[in-house]
Amino acid sequence: MADLVIQEEKIIERILTLELVRVTERAAVSSARLRGRGDEKAADQAAVDAMRRELNRLPIDGTIVIGEGERDEAPMLFIGEKVGTKTGPKVDIAVDPLEGTTLCAKDMPGSIAVMAMAEGGTLLNAPDVYMDKIAIGPGYPAGVVDLDASPRDNINALAKAKGVKPGEITVLILDRLRHADLIVSCREAGAAIRLITDGDVAGVIHTTQPEHTGIDLYLGTGGAPEGVLAAGALRCVGGQMQARLILDTEAKVERARKMGVSDPKKKYDMHELASGDVIVCATGVTDGAMLKGVRFGKEMIETETVIYRSVTGTVRRIHAEHREMAKFRLD
Ligand code: FBP
Repeated sequence: MADLVIQEEKIIERILTLELVRVTERAAVSSARLRGRGDEKAADQAAVDAMRRELNRLPIDGTIVIGEGERDEAPMLFIGEKVGTKTGPKVDIAVDPLEGTTLCAKDMPGSIAVMAMAEGGTLLNAPDVYMDKIAIGPGYPAGVVDLDASPRDNINALAKAKGVKPGEITVLILDRLRHADLIVSCREAGAAIRLITDGDVAGVIHTTQPEHTGIDLYLGTGGAPEGVLAAGALRCVGGQMQARLILDTEAKVERARKMGVSDPKKKYDMHELASGDVIVCATGVTDGAMLKGVRFGKEMIETETVIYRSVTGTVRRIHAEHREMAKFRLD
C-alpha cells in the first residue's frame, strides 16, 4: 500500500512538472511586457500577480516557503501563503516571480521567472537575508571545494580536480562592493572572474554547464531565497553547493529562529537547502546565457523554459508558441 501511495504521488508530481511551465511562462510574459520601463516594482508585481493566479489553478496543497517576503511586507506570495486548489499533494513552493528585477526594468540580459516545488517540509525556510554561497557543477569528488576554505585553496583544488591550471578556472561573482576582497583574492590565485550585476540563481546554475557558460565556480554573497532555488536546480543535475545565512543582527537571528533556524551559523549543504524530491522551473524574461527572453510577435508570443526534476535528473527545455495568449492578452 505504501508503495502504491508513493507511486501515485510520483505520478502526480510527474504530471505537475509540465504544469509548472505554465506558471513561470505566465509570470515571464507579464513582466516582459514591462521590460525596459525603468519600473522594477511594476514588473515584479506583474510577475507576482500572474504567478499567483496560475499557482492557484494547480491541483496542489501548496505552501509558499520562499516568497516575496514575510506576510506584513508582501501582499502576495508571502511566506506561509497557501496556494493551489488544495486537492492534491502537500508541497513546498519557492518562488522568485521576477529574479533580476533591475535587469528587467533596464532590459538587460539574464532576468528570469523561477520557482521550485518540493515535497512538503523539504525546502529550507530561509528568511529574506543574505547568504554566503559556493557552488560547482557535477562531476567532481564530494567536498572538493568548501565554503570555509580560502578562494585560493578552492580554486587550486577545483583546478586540480578538473585537470587544468588555476588560470583556466573562471569564477562567477556578483559585482558588489562587498566582494572587493574576494575578487582580489581570486585574481591573485590566478583565476578569471566574470562579474554579473544581478541574477545569481542563474549564476549558480551556470556552473552546471561550464563547457557552455565558461563558469566553473560560483562564489560570494547573494539572497538566501535565491540560494535555495539554485540549490534545488543543482540537486537535479548533481552539482555541489554550500551556504550559510548571514544573520548579523539580533533581529535577523530572531526572524530566522521563528522560521525554524536554530543554529544561526550553520553551514548548509545542497541536500539541506533542498532535501527532498524537487522540480525547478525557469522561463526567460530578458535574453540571457541560460534562456532566451520572451518574444512578442504579431500573432504569437514565444517563451523558453527549462525544467529540472531531481527524481530522474531530467532537464527539459521547452520552446513554446502562445497564440491565444497573443490574441487575447491572456497573461
Ligand atoms: P531581485 O530580483 O530581487 O532584484 O534580486 C536580484 C539579485 O541580484 C539576486 O540574484 C541576488 O541574490 C541578490 O539580488 C543580491 O542582492 P543585492 O542586490 O542586495 O546585492
